[in-house]
Amino acid sequence: VDNLCYLNGGIVSLEDAHISLQDRGILYGDGLFETIRVYDGKPFLLEKHIGRMSASASALDIEMPGSVEEINNAVSSLLSANRVKDGSLRMTLTRGAGMQGLWPWQKGKSTFFITSNSNIPYSSELYREGFKVALISFPLNEYSPQAAHKTLNFLDYLWGRREAEKRGFQEGIFLNQKRYLAEGTVSNLFLLKGEVLYTPPLEAGVLPGITRELILNIAAELVEVKEENIPPSWLREATEVFLTNSLMEIMPVVKVETQPVNTGEPGLLTGRLRRLYRDYVQSEQGGS
Ligand SMILES: Cc1ncc(COP(=O)(O)O)c(C=O)c1O
Repeated sequence: VDNLCYLNGGIVSLEDAHISLQDRGILYGDGLFETIRVYDGKPFLLEKHIGRMSASASALDIEMPGSVEEINNAVSSLLSANRVKDGSLRMTLTRGAGMQGLWPWQKGKSTFFITSNSNIPYSSELYREGFKVALISFPLNEYSPQAAHKTLNFLDYLWGRREAEKRGFQEGIFLNQKRYLAEGTVSNLFLLKGEVLYTPPLEAGVLPGITRELILNIAAELVEVKEENIPPSWLREATEVFLTNSLMEIMPVVKVETQPVNTGEPGLLTGRLRRLYRDYVQSEQGGS
């Protein structure tokens, strides 16, 4: 993480950034976060991330820290302060501190901070080789009102990720309570079966990924795309599988448990989508 951060209205060094021990983000995971990719010093699709955070904040009755413009300005000031070129941002919002009771009827002042990171944890080698993924042993709960929100309650995902990594896999895939495929621990899932590219629908309990939405649009130029419940057996019939999130963009999956996906090499459509995605990034980032 870079040395400076934005906290409740100003830029401070990480050592000087403090929040209350009473902050509900710490006490209850009562908050939200966003992870945003930065290309050439500019945040990618920032307005979408702010939009998702504000929709969730309003669903949870958490006060947003300011207008879209104010958040934009906070982000720009942090990116220049830390001289970020290619990297990422994390925006964290909590209900704040000092309220009594599990459900505090009085509104408090929320806590908002942004950190930046000038490294991307995914090397080009990883994209060439593709990911090996595990199936996680416990289901995500698509009936939970939390399912659609990127909350600070991340323990299910962390637990699943630990399980996958302990078993030697780079990512884990969750099923949901209905035994359909849901998503990865930090990513949305796509698979190509026959001539159709499938991804689980939001009702499957997946995060409404911003990359997922973009891929649904981009991929429609190349292939028929469907949001549909996917039984896990389709992972064996799929000719391509890939994962998406803001930082990794599009990561090929070459193996699920012990079963190679098709020939066990990153797929052709996956490669074409990665190039289209890069073109889209260029057009977005160059244009503003
Ligand atoms: C559980 C989960 N699903 C999906 C995603 C992908 O979301 P996005 O494309 O908005 O980064 C993430 C992002 O980290 C995630 O944590």
